[in-house]
Amino acid sequence: MSASGSERAKTPSDIRAMKGGAPIVCLTAYTTPVARLVDAEADLVLVGDSVGMVLHGMDSTLGVTMELMILHGQAVARGCTRGCLVIDMPFGSYEESPEQAFRNAARLMRETGAAAVKLEGGVAMAETIRFLTARSVPVMGHVGLTPQAINTLGGYKVQGRGADRARVMADARAVAEAGAFSVVLEKVPAGLAAEVTAELAIPTVGIGAGVDCDGQVLVVDDMLGLFDAFKPKFVKRYATLAEDARSAIASYAQEVRTRAFPAPEHIFADE
Ligand code: KIV
Repeated sequence: MSASGSERAKTPSDIRAMKGGAPIVCLTAYTTPVARLVDAEADLVLVGDSVGMVLHGMDSTLGVTMELMILHGQAVARGCTRGCLVIDMPFGSYEESPEQAFRNAARLMRETGAAAVKLEGGVAMAETIRFLTARSVPVMGHVGLTPQAINTLGGYKVQGRGADRARVMADARAVAEAGAFSVVLEKVPAGLAAEVTAELAIPTVGIGAGVDCDGQVLVVDDMLGLFDAFKPKFVKRYATLAEDARSAIASYAQEVRTRAFPAPEHIFADE
């Protein structure tokens, strides 16, 4: 609660303080109406760069731009009053140098009102995360499967099996030591995610990383069954909105063709 008695939005420090406590609920949102729905329940509302694939039909997140993220970030901010609003830094907006990352992170926060940015990468991004956090930019890390790196990772494979375990562990450690307030673990074996969660002082938020993470995140369109072109194993569908929409659209089309719609209650009388 704020000094005025009304509920205030959660901050990155609030999320950091949830380590080891009640599981952190995180969902993506890309539009105002969905942000309103998500914000009613979520601790953390993420404007993910998955927006490129989910709403814009891109094959990967690589084509997402700063402008696209800002537009969706602004829309989500209008529907978000409780959750901690975090926005993804798109591919190419932070990897070149810490200075480039700061410039773009500050722009994302200034133009959208997001409380923090998320960026992908572990050891290689530690210096950048340190630079940003020292300059008042809270950072959420993202290690394991990092979708912006699919061309070097060789696709959307599980990360951290066998000899690769140490790499994912080192990435997670590096992000935490650099000052991130939390870290997404994507598509890593459940045992490894549990080990990372036990070792790190910051909360882990898992997607395809088992039940022992400090929180969970899903793409909202996946869990609502609205995006149903394919279903990753780690997605649980809590609704079948695409099916419902297909059926509603088919009914509408049929009623238009048979003149069953509009009915008298949808019509304006002449006088
Ligand atoms: O872009 C995104 O939606 C994400 C989450 C899946 C973690 O990064």
